[in-house]
Amino acid sequence: MSSRVPAGSSANKKTPRFPTHIAIIMDGNGRWAQKRGLPRLEGHGAGVENLRSVIEYFDRLGLKYLTLYGFSTENWKRPKEEIDGLLNLLQEAIDEETLKLHKNGIKIRHLGRLEKLPAGFQRAITRAVELTRDNKGMTVSFAFNYGGRAEILDAVRKIIVEGVPPQKIDEQLFDSYLYTAGLPYVDLVIRTAGELRISNFLIWQAAYSEYYFTEVFWPDFDSKEIDKALLAYSRRQRRFGAL
Ligand code: IPE
Ligand code: IPE
Ligand code: MG
Repeated sequence: MSSRVPAGSSANKKTPRFPTHIAIIMDGNGRWAQKRGLPRLEGHGAGVENLRSVIEYFDRLGLKYLTLYGFSTENWKRPKEEIDGLLNLLQEAIDEETLKLHKNGIKIRHLGRLEKLPAGFQRAITRAVELTRDNKGMTVSFAFNYGGRAEILDAVRKIIVEGVPPQKIDEQLFDSYLYTAGLPYVDLVIRTAGELRISNFLIWQAAYSEYYFTEVFWPDFDSKEIDKALLAYSRRQRRFGAL
């Protein structure tokens, strides 16, 4: 591997050594539980526990942007009991972790339609976002009630409401109307639990991402698995259409 470009730099597009922005589809909680004969909610519990350690590990590695898919606009199709249980676990974790994340300089963002989420959940995430707004460390974006198609439609609506003239609409302007405004595009998308699809995640922002799929269920996706994903990424060649 060439060592001309320091880790963390995105300057060398061809042989990226370390990604700037990683986005994770945290899948497989249900199957993790099923394999152990446990209720699905236990799997979500283990998944949320893992979320805490994964954030800590990426922070130690010096990652700049981490985006986590925790609940999709399509996940409302699940039984109410599972939805309530999962959202409660996530809310608890946000409430418990916010101060620690803040002390570590982490900036928290929310991607998605906040208004449809339960009031307590909205309060927890809003408090976290506001408290950490000016932090300069790793940006952790939580995609809760997130859908890539919904995001694009929300952007289009805002652009129309603001009366932006069509000739002014280019990719840069469009970026600034997305939930992810101000975040760089995604370098690496990781999906756990073996499905080979993106399930409506960051369909605009991950248009030129590298993808890493692993069979490992989300609750088992630990630092060793992260290292494997990073190694795979460091061996990719990114071309962005050029030679
Ligand atoms: C990921 O685990 C969490 C969410 C999608 C909310 P799943 O609940 O999808 O787990 P599997 O895919 O059924 O194993
Ligand atoms: C994707 O997982 C959404 C999240 C991880 C939050 P799903 O389990 O909902 O995806 P599908 O339904 O298998 O595509
Ligand atoms: Mg799933």
